[in-house]
Amino acid sequence: MCCSQGQQRGWAGKAASTMTEKQRPCVIIAIDGPAGAGKSTVAQRLARLLGYRYVDSGALYRAVGWLVCEHALLLEDPAALVAYLQRTPIELTFPNGTLQVWVAGRCVTSQVRGEAVTHAASAVATMPGVRRVITAQLRQIGGEADVVMEGRDIGTVVFPDATVKFFLDASPTIRGQRRLQEMQQGRSSATLGQVVEAMAQRDSQDRARATAPLMRSPDAQIIDTTDLTVDEVVQTMLSEIRRVLP
Ligand code: CDP
Repeated sequence: MCCSQGQQRGWAGKAASTMTEKQRPCVIIAIDGPAGAGKSTVAQRLARLLGYRYVDSGALYRAVGWLVCEHALLLEDPAALVAYLQRTPIELTFPNGTLQVWVAGRCVTSQVRGEAVTHAASAVATMPGVRRVITAQLRQIGGEADVVMEGRDIGTVVFPDATVKFFLDASPTIRGQRRLQEMQQGRSSATLGQVVEAMAQRDSQDRARATAPLMRSPDAQIIDTTDLTVDEVVQTMLSEIRRVLP
């Protein structure tokens, strides 16, 4: 059994000595990196293999982006947006191996990956108040279960003491091809050039923002997935996890 809420590792300043004998800290596998680096596919597979909960932190930012689009909230008024967010429950579920995103009890999974919501998600992710709310939610989830959590700031800000940290990257063209393939399953007619350009803009906004920018934690293992299969990436990660975990 892993720790109860508030007794997880370092981020909350709680030492292992506060835990009872039966408890141990939750295991946090942190996977960060830019769009299209392959985080979601490997994170889901790792979570299944390890029996951990899969957490897509980007889906929470997308849910906030959805709120902005759906209710025409103003990006120029972050305080009002944060107040709205604080009274609007956002939840992630993972029934039958498929991520579902819920906002105020409504399933919005099929709506959070569109262009407008993607753009709004990246914009709200620059707002410190929004990040505070989402970070608190992620820490709560990681305090209740062993998790594989993917995002941009998991190993740097959300769980700086994560059990194992990875930073996935790949060449811009490969990342664009992967994203295009995903989009074409949803029948998008975008070109590779357009996808690479949109990803580059989002990445540079993610890297340049003042709060919790996309960056590698110095103790994260970098994996360049450009020329690797999903299996190869998962095996590399599993070896590192087995090395670190008793
Ligand atoms: O799937 P993709 O990699 O394209 O994006 P995502 O993981 O769904 O994240 C959507 C957006 O949320 C990103 O462009 C970031 O701006 C933001 N995000 C963040 O700021 N911090 C995180 N931990 C996760 C996502």
